[in-house]
Amino acid sequence: MTTPKYLFVAVFWILMANGGAVCPDGYCRHSDGCYRTVALNVTWIDARAYCEVLGGHLLSPVSHSMAAAAEGALRRMKGTIFPGKFWLDITDLLNPKDWKRMSDKKALNFTNWDTTSGTGASEEGARNCVYMSESLNYRWVPASCVETLNFLCYHAGLPPTTERYPIGSTRVYKIQHGYHQWVNEQMYEYKDVSPKDVDC
Ligand SMILES: *[C@@H]1O[C@H](CO)[C@@H](O)[C@H](O)[C@H]1NC(C)=O
Ligand SMILES: *[C@@H]1O[C@H](CO)[C@@H](O)[C@H](O)[C@H]1NC(C)=O
Repeated sequence: MTTPKYLFVAVFWILMANGGAVCPDGYCRHSDGCYRTVALNVTWIDARAYCEVLGGHLLSPVSHSMAAAAEGALRRMKGTIFPGKFWLDITDLLNPKDWKRMSDKKALNFTNWDTTSGTGASEEGARNCVYMSESLNYRWVPASCVETLNFLCYHAGLPPTTERYPIGSTRVYKIQHGYHQWVNEQMYEYKDVSPKDVDC
């Protein structure tokens, strides 16, 4: 009886995790990120604090795609939240007329100013905070930080957790202790055990 020298029976049952990140409770996925629209009327500094409590950060879009995702989240609520103005984590309080994104204290490399409202540059320090306006097609408008507006919290998403479950064994022909022989190998299934994203 001849035994084939190289016979590999490699069996992998791997269910890949769904790839993307998972949103924390209360957040909805839009594109790559997680967004939570909050209908409270609060000052800018309170909006920042609320988002921290809600496990995220006040939104400050860093790219067109992020702004578009936030806009997608807001469009679903259009006409249901008043005043329909959503604070962004952008301010020039640190240095007047030098708008900074508070998440990383960096200058803005993406903006979506509403050109009809100006950028606050001509104001003398009265409008140090920024909101996204539903009625102005989600463009950005500078406003006094003590206005009471709505806001949007952002979370980049949590990595999905996978767990390994044994699903039986299979016979594998391989070299072990210098000999080719059949050995039993445990097979596992990898399951994504993260909670499902809310579709909203
Ligand atoms: C702006 O910078 C951030 C990182 O600080 C980066 O993630 C983002 O893609 C940049 N946006 C643009 C439009 O280059
Ligand atoms: C927030 O203020 C608006 C007026 O700008 C009002 O219509 C709305 O009911 C207020 N919302 C809450 C939750 O107090």
